[in-house]
Amino acid sequence: MSQATPETSVEMPAGFDPEESAQLRAVAIAAAMAVAPGLKAAFRSKMVVDFKNDLRDIVTEHDRAAEVAITEHLLAAVPQSEVLGEEGGLRGSGPVRWYVDPIDGTANFARGLPNWCISIGAVVDGQIVAGVIVDPMGGNVFSADLRGAYLNDAPMRSNAAQEARFATLISSYPAARDFAADGKAAALEDFGQLVEGFSSVRRNGSAALGLAHVAAGWADAAAGFGINAWDVTAAVLILRQSGGRYLPFAYGQTPAAEPAFVHPGYIAIGGGGDYPFLSQTWARIAASRS
Ligand code: IPD
Ligand code: CA
Ligand code: CA
Repeated sequence: MSQATPETSVEMPAGFDPEESAQLRAVAIAAAMAVAPGLKAAFRSKMVVDFKNDLRDIVTEHDRAAEVAITEHLLAAVPQSEVLGEEGGLRGSGPVRWYVDPIDGTANFARGLPNWCISIGAVVDGQIVAGVIVDPMGGNVFSADLRGAYLNDAPMRSNAAQEARFATLISSYPAARDFAADGKAAALEDFGQLVEGFSSVRRNGSAALGLAHVAAGWADAAAGFGINAWDVTAAVLILRQSGGRYLPFAYGQTPAAEPAFVHPGYIAIGGGGDYPFLSQTWARIAASRS
């Protein structure tokens, strides 16, 4: 299966108490803010860097320490919950599942570029009910609950150019792993089409922060492949509650019926934007991987 339609991609939480979602948002913000000063202090310092699957898959001592601290905070605040973190796997058990990326944009963090963030999303019964993305270097807290989306506690709305030729797209496609999946020549051809079709194409190195920037109206669209639930769960709710659209793309082992935040491909478009050739390109690539 390749693409979920825009209609089926919208999983509006039904029956969950908005007040409870606001409380989970507050817990997520507190957990992220508890580690933000330490990460900011560690940024651009000498640090221990390890490699996971390959030399492009980096983890630092600070990713691991921040995830432990976030996990302890979340489980203490909401004992009836479980945490799925990028670095430590699953801990705890309960009806609330937290998806935690302690640093999204680790390659930037490890090298000294300021585009990285902390991302925490809460899911109940397969529906995202709260999320926060904290950008310590930019001083921004992007968050959402069932009542709305917020930038540093003020209501936040996305705002995108109607046509691609006036729009800025944030995408790291293609990366080396995409060459392996799609073929280098085909991937570069598609990249060329994006460069020609959009006003600007940017590679920011943090999927969560790119999505938050679309939600804030600071960019028009974002797109990628090969992402995991901890990268995007918070961002999916933040984007949708800001009036943007999140279109998931399933391929490989992910059934199309799964919720949007577990799909490995995505397009995000701010309110008012419509870029059919981007959706067509992503659908074709996803179909070719299935
Ligand atoms: C990565 C970043 C990157 C995206 C990758 C992610 P990490 O997360 O979000 O922008 O292209 O797919 O894995 O490793 O920095 O947490
Ligand atoms: Ca990540
Ligand atoms: Ca990470």
